[in-house]
Amino acid sequence: MKIAIAADHGGFALKQKLIEAFTPKGYQFDDLGTYSEESVDYPDYAEKVCHALLEHKADLGILVCGSGIGISIAANRHKGIRAALLYSDEVAALARKHNNANVAVFGGRTMAEDDVLRRMQIFLNTEFEGGRHIRRIEKLDVYGEC
Ligand code: RB5
Repeated sequence: MKIAIAADHGGFALKQKLIEAFTPKGYQFDDLGTYSEESVDYPDYAEKVCHALLEHKADLGILVCGSGIGISIAANRHKGIRAALLYSDEVAALARKHNNANVAVFGGRTMAEDDVLRRMQIFLNTEFEGGRHIRRIEKLDVYGEC
């Protein structure tokens, strides 16, 4: 599976940990930056991952900023992107089961590394349930047109 990943300076360190932890498990990363802790703007990095997904260059995305909030807002403005801030283990599973989330988002300054790595594994191991949830996620893109 190919994963497009990016972060701003607030998420840089955690992005590196995610790549380090999941590469040996066979996941292939496209690291779209940032590449240091020098200050950058999170919308620019959300954009890179969203484009990779929408152009079918990756199967899933990961985004990290300081809180996870700004980069979630930026990603969710792209039609076809369903970015979920994984603030608990339960939410990591529900984001896949009910929302078919295609981007996992974390807060580099607000979440512990071990929690993030565990939630990422849950997200990767969980499948979309389909059924009634298909209709609901389709409406996300219809109303996004307004
Ligand atoms: C950057 O200082 C910080 O504002 C950003 O990483 C993020 O937390 C925004 O939501």
